[in-house]
Amino acid sequence: MVARTLALLLSASLITVNASPVKTPFSVRRQSDGFPYPLDDVDKLEEASLAKYEAYLAKKNSTNSCTLETAAKRQEWHDMTVPQREEYIRAVLCLQSLPPKANKTEYPGVMNRYDDFVLTHETQAFHLHSTPHLFPAHRVYIWAYEKALREECGYKGWQPYWNWGRTAADPINSALFNGNMSSMGGNGAKLDYPGVPAMSFKPPYDMIPADLGGGCVTDGPFKNMTISLGPIGGPLKDYIPKNPRADGFGANPRCLRRDVNRYASGMLYANYTYKLITEANDINLFQKNMLGIPEQNDWGVHMSGHYTIGGDPGGDFYSSPGDPIFWFHHGMVDRIWWIWQMQDPENRMNVLPENPPKDDFVDLNWTAKKVATWDLVDSIGGMGGEFCYIYV
Ligand SMILES: *[C@@H]1O[C@H](CO)[C@@H](O)[C@H](O)[C@H]1NC(C)=O
Ligand SMILES: *[C@@H]1O[C@H](CO)[C@@H](O)[C@H](O)[C@H]1NC(C)=O
Ligand SMILES: *[C@@H]1O[C@H](CO)[C@@H](O)[C@H](O)[C@H]1NC(C)=O
Ligand SMILES: *[C@@H]1O[C@H](CO)[C@@H](O)[C@H](O)[C@H]1NC(C)=O
Ligand SMILES: *[C@@H]1O[C@H](CO)[C@@H](O)[C@H](O)[C@H]1NC(C)=O
Ligand SMILES: *[C@@H]1O[C@H](CO)[C@@H](O)[C@H](O)[C@H]1NC(C)=O
Repeated sequence: MVARTLALLLSASLITVNASPVKTPFSVRRQSDGFPYPLDDVDKLEEASLAKYEAYLAKKNSTNSCTLETAAKRQEWHDMTVPQREEYIRAVLCLQSLPPKANKTEYPGVMNRYDDFVLTHETQAFHLHSTPHLFPAHRVYIWAYEKALREECGYKGWQPYWNWGRTAADPINSALFNGNMSSMGGNGAKLDYPGVPAMSFKPPYDMIPADLGGGCVTDGPFKNMTISLGPIGGPLKDYIPKNPRADGFGANPRCLRRDVNRYASGMLYANYTYKLITEANDINLFQKNMLGIPEQNDWGVHMSGHYTIGGDPGGDFYSSPGDPIFWFHHGMVDRIWWIWQMQDPENRMNVLPENPPKDDFVDLNWTAKKVATWDLVDSIGGMGGEFCYIYV
């Protein structure tokens, strides 16, 4: 798909525009190792939007060299080959073995370079999640993580994403969570805990019941991972050791815990994402609906994804990037923002919730340079051309 559509689009445009021939035919999508994943409605919408997006890019006359053709192609985990997945996992484990940049005297819980990213999400939690920053700050945050994997750990690919709909019915048996050595899983051991009250909703709270996990992850490449920062919040706060520091920045070595949750993933079928993208005509409403519609007791796809991972630190608002699946989930959030933008690029590329001032910035301290918020809206050419990626 997207790949093929893109190649067609590009070759069609080349006939009229007279540029050099397409050098890189795309064949990255749907390699599917025995799992047939037909295009879902969101995939189809993405494909159908590319022509509009290409026309917009052509008209924009960007001075940087990023085009749909040269852009990095972030793939869905299930579309990657097993060796590609293993290579990605190797790079994540590598980042977890490098020394941190943050000052260990001030932040004794930071054990490695990976933890710099977790720490940033904790110290900058309100900056990252304020209404105008949620989308752009997470966009640069993921990009910086991908860059660290590539530049500091020799990873040659791009950050994968998690198409929620593919695993909605049975997450634990998917190639993402199944717990084998080429997955990002597995589940935690069974823990007896009450589940998760869906946050920020009026009583009576919708309770997400505990599923089969909640304890330490016992299989897969991250079973030996040591979590150190936090917890600051989260559903397991009363079931795991407390951080020695009130701010959560102390060293609190413990296992990675998950509760891969089927109740939460029931809100992640493609129809919910499709509805989200197609029913909100302005950016404020789009973001609001993504974060949940309390009146309808709808937690939104963003929280449903976090709760599908659950556990510690995945279920903690502050420390959630400490679970390496975080980046897949927020990759999908970034992807659907992009698909939403592409529905009407003239009017949607350069808008942000609450319309922050021109001199507004995002500063991710140890993980990315300080950057103007408005430079982060365009994944093709944003940040002076440093952003140059699409999702396939
Ligand atoms: C784009 O570039 C063309 C050719 O250089 C120029 O004629 C046109 O005015 C430019 N358009 C914009 C919107 O800058
Ligand atoms: C780390 O923080 C401590 C305490 O604030 C300070 O004394 C030290 O100079 C810092 N180290 C570096 C390398 O900045
Ligand atoms: C892990 O699971 C994936 C997808 O289910 C499969 O392609 C792969 O062969 C499995 N690897 C092992 C070692 O079982
Ligand atoms: C976990 O640690 C044990 C003991 O050091 C080691 O034998 C095993 O290979 C490690 N497993 C993974 C997945 O890192
Ligand atoms: C979305 O799809 C799921 C799975 O097919 C179905 O159970 C659910 O009722 C659908 N919801 C809506 C609002 O269409
Ligand atoms: C992180 O960035 C903020 C915003 O620019 C700044 O105020 C703060 O001093 C920075 N913190 C560190 C530890 O660099």
